[in-house]
Amino acid sequence: MATNRTFTMIKPDATAAGNAGKILDIILENGYKVVALKYIHLSTAQAGAFYEIHKERPFYNDLVSFMTSGPIYAAILEKENAVADFRTLIGATNPAEAAPGTIRNLFAKSIDANAVHGSDSDENAMIEGAFFFNRFERF
Ligand code: CMP
Repeated sequence: MATNRTFTMIKPDATAAGNAGKILDIILENGYKVVALKYIHLSTAQAGAFYEIHKERPFYNDLVSFMTSGPIYAAILEKENAVADFRTLIGATNPAEAAPGTIRNLFAKSIDANAVHGSDSDENAMIEGAFFFNRFERF
């Protein structure tokens, strides 16, 4: 069952570049409601656990290292068809392939420093949102 919620992170590259406000603005302009929000610097253990699903991938260590290089914004977003629409809004994982006008096309530098995360399924949106927010922090 679609939950109409997705999970996002504004990653360390976009946060350090001062683009978090602009990215949040685009998200809001596209009809998403922020139902949870946190500004946090992940520890290696936390990032490692969040990306456990990629543990066997060759880019896992670089990914954990990058995601702990500075603070991020984590958020749960609500809108009809949130997961699929948000992935369209952010564009392809590799910014070189991201469609013009997408968040990654506008703000991402590389496949690692790709500005934002967006859940790839309703199930993962729930798992990822619950990783960052307890039930008193989601509205
Ligand atoms: P995201 O989908 O947010 O979460 C996993 C991240 O791994 C992905 O963004 C990329 O930033 C990063 N990554 C690095 N190399 C690759 C790759 N070859 N394929 C997919 N993701 C990659």
